[in-house]
Amino acid sequence: MLRRRPFAVFTLAALTTVGVAMTAEAGTRIERKAWGTTPEGQTVELFTLSREGAPTVAVTNHGAYLVSILAPDRDGQAADVILGYSDLAGYLADGGYLGAVVGRYANRIAGGTFSLGGQTYTLARNNGPNHLHGGPGGFHRKLWTPRVVTGPEGDTLELTYLSVDGEEGYPGALTATVVYSLTAEGGLRLDYSATTDASTVVNLTNHAYFNLAGEGSGDILGHEMQIESNAFTPVDETLIPTGELRPVEGSPLDFRKPVALGARIDDPYPQLQAGGGYDHNFVVRGAPGELRLAARVYEPGSGRVLEVLTTEPGVQLYSGNFLDGSIVGKSGRPYEKRGGFCLETQHFPDSPNQPEFPPVVLEPGDRYEQTTVFRFSVR
Ligand code: GLA
Repeated sequence: MLRRRPFAVFTLAALTTVGVAMTAEAGTRIERKAWGTTPEGQTVELFTLSREGAPTVAVTNHGAYLVSILAPDRDGQAADVILGYSDLAGYLADGGYLGAVVGRYANRIAGGTFSLGGQTYTLARNNGPNHLHGGPGGFHRKLWTPRVVTGPEGDTLELTYLSVDGEEGYPGALTATVVYSLTAEGGLRLDYSATTDASTVVNLTNHAYFNLAGEGSGDILGHEMQIESNAFTPVDETLIPTGELRPVEGSPLDFRKPVALGARIDDPYPQLQAGGGYDHNFVVRGAPGELRLAARVYEPGSGRVLEVLTTEPGVQLYSGNFLDGSIVGKSGRPYEKRGGFCLETQHFPDSPNQPEFPPVVLEPGDRYEQTTVFRFSVR
């Protein structure tokens, strides 16, 4: 009791004199190191973001990939909760978008074609008859320019990529930026933005595969999934939306209350057969543009909880159906079918061809923005 008062006085005095320094210390620190070179000989770096009360996150400027997220379980034991590779070589060869930033247009564009301003554009058909994830030379294949920016909450990592006019068939030179930061509430925050010099389409996301029990620890079927969505966009057999917004009610896509991912994944519901499991865009409740909860996932064994907040109109739940054990992950264990799930916050697939969907056209002078937060806690 006697010591409390002088201590409090000292703390207040310290706060007023070194307030700025204290804030910075309490905020995020970023360490950077060389991580290898691209086949063209460019240096690639690895950035590690750490902050009290937040997961420790590694990001590389090759493809703006999220490389690891170390998050504690309910006993304080940290595990890496995203799938990935042990070194840069793995990322250079990656075909599964394991943690990549996807662009210029995430998800599918039907037939690899769309029209804009009376002109038709032809893109690579790299997924059956369709265009997927920006094409074979999409943003996940590019070296982004890094900048560590120090502000009142400590360091943030800003990655910028200039996609030239005509790259992968898309019109307009597009400057894309992703800022990675950690929040005081245990969140990893991604602020995306883009500007263009001619009309174009843009849809950026991050394609991290989560396994809240730890990467390589088996399938994710026991994770309890809740999605803030009343409707989804059904797809045809090539995973292109039909244009319908279908209520989730009464279907295995009803995640309005928490339910194990595996509980209904093999139900004889035609939509699940198209994707070999979940591979669907959900319409996120509430107003696009507002940062709001899109999904909450709980892993009963570890107690880890992931909440996904986003400004985007949709989120793609992908249950890792195409993983087949051929990727050996960062700790040497193969990633089996359904060994991770993605929650890709996005505009709806094939929006450039679906005028009823929220628009994805970016005009010169306008600014594309999307924010997504992956917030971690335990129960
Ligand atoms: C997205 C798609 C899936 C699949 C993965 C990558 O989630 O919707 O169908 O292509 O990317 O394997």
